[in-house]
Amino acid sequence: MRRSLVFTLLKAIAAFCVLAGLLLSQVLPPSARQAPAETVPAVSRNLGKTLIIVYSVTGNTLDMAERIQARTGGDIVRIETVEPYPAGGNLIPYAKRERDELRWPELRRPLPDVGGYDTVFLGTPVWFHGLPPATVLFLEAMDFGGKPLAPFLTAGGGPGDSADALRNSARNARIMGHKVITRYASRPGEDIDKEIGLWLAALLAEPLPDPLPDASASPEPDGGGNAAQLPGPDVAVPAP
Ligand SMILES: Cc1cc2nc3c(=O)[nH]c(=O)nc-3n(C[C@H](O)[C@H](O)[C@H](O)COP(=O)(O)O)c2cc1C
Repeated sequence: MRRSLVFTLLKAIAAFCVLAGLLLSQVLPPSARQAPAETVPAVSRNLGKTLIIVYSVTGNTLDMAERIQARTGGDIVRIETVEPYPAGGNLIPYAKRERDELRWPELRRPLPDVGGYDTVFLGTPVWFHGLPPATVLFLEAMDFGGKPLAPFLTAGGGPGDSADALRNSARNARIMGHKVITRYASRPGEDIDKEIGLWLAALLAEPLPDPLPDASASPEPDGGGNAAQLPGPDVAVPAP
């Protein structure tokens, strides 16, 4: 009799525990019920050794290149034409005539060798809502060897199709997010610096883009274009 009383009591306690567990599972939020999910690490990497290739006739895009260099280190190489473009007020009429007469400038050679670099920046001004002839010729002649490529552009007003044109014609490049700065010449330096810093921070958080199909066809040069695994200077990023 006493034994059956103890047995009944134990059964009651067990039933109570099951019921309490069920009730708690309904009341507590899922976060308190489940083991904490493994946190997904934010993509964060350095850019490795950087090469900053820039075309600039009146100095704005070169200025942007130098501001990028100040944060990333690396080398600047300029795209140049054999015949320099005229300065000042003659530049736009000259460029218009060149365009209307379908004349193309000749690029100064040799073209930069991206082989020893982990990340390449490519800067250009916007001309006539597109790319200047020198930039077009440069893109036609270059193979970026599967490297990450971050394009940057300066413009007076609107970039038009220039950013897309640049992104679509960079052969064998892992194209990263681009940056366009408009009204470049009239912007205070610190605004420009801040924009560049935020852009670089975004680049560092970007997963490395897939290589284009032809990039995987040929063996990659030393470094494999994967800046994620390579040592290099950290980028100084300003507070937003
Ligand atoms: C021939 C020529 C055409 C231009 N066309 C445009 C244009 O279509 N849209 C625009 O926003 N700016 C245009 N600009 C302004 C330049 O994009 C801007 O001043 C740029 O920052 C110049 O870069 P740079 O100083 O590095 O040469 C043009 C400038 C020149 C010289």
